[in-house]
Amino acid sequence: MANDTKHNEVKEDAVREHSYDGIQEYDKKLPNWWLFTLYASIIFSFVYWIYYEQSGVGKTDEENLAIELARIEEARNTGPSQLTGDAELWEMSRDATVVSAGQTSFTTYCVSCHGVDLKGGIGQSLVDDVWIMGGNPTDLMKIVREGSLEKGMPPWGSVLGDKKISEVVAFVLSHHEIPAEGS
Ligand code: HEC
Repeated sequence: MANDTKHNEVKEDAVREHSYDGIQEYDKKLPNWWLFTLYASIIFSFVYWIYYEQSGVGKTDEENLAIELARIEEARNTGPSQLTGDAELWEMSRDATVVSAGQTSFTTYCVSCHGVDLKGGIGQSLVDDVWIMGGNPTDLMKIVREGSLEKGMPPWGSVLGDKKISEVVAFVLSHHEIPAEGS
């Protein structure tokens, strides 16, 4: 029995000196997993601070956002048209999804001058075969992008971006026959 008590005392943690309202605490050793987590998070916070706050290597959310927006803006402006030649635009003009997207833009931005039926009004007819700059799809891209200000056609490049312009051109082209090869 005496042995037992002694054994217990050895295992037990020391009781701390102070006593609050008669309550005393053991002087417990913090568990290793707890200490490990503490030290690891201190090290992590230090590395994090260096990486994001001090070195300038890590990008903040705001910087990432700015980069992403710049990329989108660039894609919007340089978009398909760099690649889009006459053949691709004719092809787009037979694609119902593209054409209906183009129609939406046309209704918003172009109808007032070119009319619901595209026969013109303030602007030229877009369904006849008379073209100011040539009727190739890329010519249409150019005039829609750059406009013809002195005659009253606003430039749409910065408003719509090339993707939307290619759609609206495809919509206009959908009212025309694809020219036979070589003509
Ligand atoms: C404020 C009126 C106005 C608006 C809005 C307008 N246009 Fe025009 N558009 C014109 C005028 C005027 C011309 C003729 C320019 C010229 O004679 O040089 C023209 C010419 C054109 C031409 C060349 C036509 C040809 O016969 O060669 C195309 C293509 C065209 N517009 C497409 C569009 C598209 C697409 C939109 C909408 C994104 C649009 N326009 C919006 C007034 C407008």
